[in-house]
Amino acid sequence: MSDQKIFATPQKVEDLADCYFYHTMELPGRGVIEGQDWDLRGRVDEYLGNVDFAGQRVLEIGPASGFLTFEMEKRGADVISVEVTDEHGWDFVPYPEPRLEEVFGPRRIVMQQLKNSYWFSHAALQSKARVYYGDAYNLPAALEEFDIAVMGAVLLHCRDPLRIVEQCGKRAKSLIIVDKFHPDLEGAPVCRLAPTPENFLWHTWWHFSTRFFTQFLEVMGFTTSEAATHQQFHRGRPHTLFTLVGRRK
Ligand SMILES: C[S@@+](CC[C@H](N)C(=O)[O-])C[C@H]1O[C@@H](n2cnc3c(N)ncnc32)[C@H](O)[C@@H]1O
Repeated sequence: MSDQKIFATPQKVEDLADCYFYHTMELPGRGVIEGQDWDLRGRVDEYLGNVDFAGQRVLEIGPASGFLTFEMEKRGADVISVEVTDEHGWDFVPYPEPRLEEVFGPRRIVMQQLKNSYWFSHAALQSKARVYYGDAYNLPAALEEFDIAVMGAVLLHCRDPLRIVEQCGKRAKSLIIVDKFHPDLEGAPVCRLAPTPENFLWHTWWHFSTRFFTQFLEVMGFTTSEAATHQQFHRGRPHTLFTLVGRRK
């Protein structure tokens, strides 16, 4: 497979109405577009562990609307993002089929609109970032090596988060992991199953402790930073997240 063939052809999206903005974005000629989920503006360096991106080849798992993609690019990175395919769509938690059926249709539309928001922003910002639509559990060798891999608020949504960390760890010298902070889990290398029969959390699998990742990174031969916590805004409300950075020894 040639390098070029694995990357998506940029899609032309001209109408904002075809987009679902996960992130709040500020785009040339468009001003501020309010996101439906997170507004990371002004706190992006903390989110990304205050790492220097100048001249770095970056692998990003799960760009959503691409706010982080384009911020890393602004800081001098060459960014390649991995996003789910239309066929796979999401690691759905296996609730009974009749319940999930209600989710699938609307979800397919939102995921297409999410991808549209990325390409809309990509064009507006004249970005050179590339996207590989594929399986984050089996990254192709054609993606080659990276200086940094970023897993921002994505591992909680994945059935097998450590496999993704492992895949990234094989290809990148530094790893940045960002996830929700759960003070009650701190002190032990644990993760907790988030879905219950009652909460119908079909999109989220795990709550993690910071030690869960630092210990695994150390197992893989990385040194790790202290996990740093920071406040970020989801639909106007502050939430505490953590960021940790691992570097291959
Ligand atoms: C919650 S958003 C996080 C966006 C961004 N990384 C951030 O930190 O703000 C999760 C992103 O990961 C993608 N995603 C979810 N499951 C995935 C998987 N199994 N493989 C690759 N990407 C996935 C979603 O489609 C979405 O783009």
